[in-house]
Amino acid sequence: MRHKHSDYMHWSKTQSRARFNLATSGVAPFPFRELPIDLKDLEINGDDSYGYAPLQQAIAAHDGVDPDCVVESAGTSMANHLAMAAIIEPGDEVLIEHPAYGPILDTAQYLQANVKRFRRVEENGWAIDPEEVRRCITPKTRLIVITNLHNPTSAFTPVSVLREIGDIARSIGALVLVDEVYLDAVYENTPRTSFHLGPEFVVTSSLTKVYGVSGLRCGWILAQPDLAWKMRRLNDLYGATPVYPGEVLSVAAFQHLDLLRERARWIVKADRKLLRDFLKREQNISAVETNWGTTSFVRLSRDRGRDADVFLERLRLEFDTSAVPGRFFEMPDHIRIGMGVNTEMFAEGLNRIGRALR
Ligand SMILES: Cc1ncc(COP(=O)(O)O)c(C=O)c1O
Repeated sequence: MRHKHSDYMHWSKTQSRARFNLATSGVAPFPFRELPIDLKDLEINGDDSYGYAPLQQAIAAHDGVDPDCVVESAGTSMANHLAMAAIIEPGDEVLIEHPAYGPILDTAQYLQANVKRFRRVEENGWAIDPEEVRRCITPKTRLIVITNLHNPTSAFTPVSVLREIGDIARSIGALVLVDEVYLDAVYENTPRTSFHLGPEFVVTSSLTKVYGVSGLRCGWILAQPDLAWKMRRLNDLYGATPVYPGEVLSVAAFQHLDLLRERARWIVKADRKLLRDFLKREQNISAVETNWGTTSFVRLSRDRGRDADVFLERLRLEFDTSAVPGRFFEMPDHIRIGMGVNTEMFAEGLNRIGRALR
């Protein structure tokens, strides 16, 4: 039977909520009333058949690319789906990082790819080891898939490593899909998109995680023009045309991107400091320290880790606090904690995790 669902998305939509919700991955919602926009500019219908030109241009300017390389999509979710569906055929080998964001795996499986994995290891700070990637490719590998920043760990992959991955892909005629939905959470010296590293790079992203406007579903793919066109044609089978008012509001969001980004930046920073102090204090948990990103992948000590699910269930029922079970990233002795929503809530959530651990 073909794979047709995502257990993680189902869990996230039905079981992740709690008063102290640390099961998030993006920053706090940006309030509509704070977006400087004249509602008189809003229209319901408009010209956007293969993309709304002002939005294509805004995305292109943001990433320093040609608008022909930009494909609009409904969030990074649809961006990943369209990118993979346009690139791979059933039976093609797709090499995906481990641990991985579940829906990426689910989509590859749904598309009937032959999914292979390469490992990122905690002892190495969850970094991508190009030698490990080299070991795992075969002449049949069509696509290598990574996230940067990495979900769930927020590990950052520098340009030198990305270049090596690009070289490996080129040597076998494969492409590299880089999901960069968290990349702009590198608030200082924000790296350029890896799309600039060569024609083997395909990039997905959106305004959902770092900018607090997930409801706009403003996502995109960067691909070479012929592949981009293939994706637009493929999208005719899915969303057909985008939501026009969403596109107009997304252009307004791009016009005030710094405002959106700065608002959450200080919350993420304060939360990261609290998390660092918490991890220093607590004996039963540990995590690789990261400088950027909205998530941390926390390992429970051996005796707690054996039943992270039981721990999280008790955390939710008795302490009204949630975090994401590591099993959704195929690492059941870990939990993922999200930063950047509300520092008071975050502090109390950590406090409750501490109490539940004792
Ligand atoms: C790595 C990664 N890609 C894609 C998505 C989906 O993003 P969007 O809400 O833009 O569809 C997420 C959401 O958590 C994610 O973590």
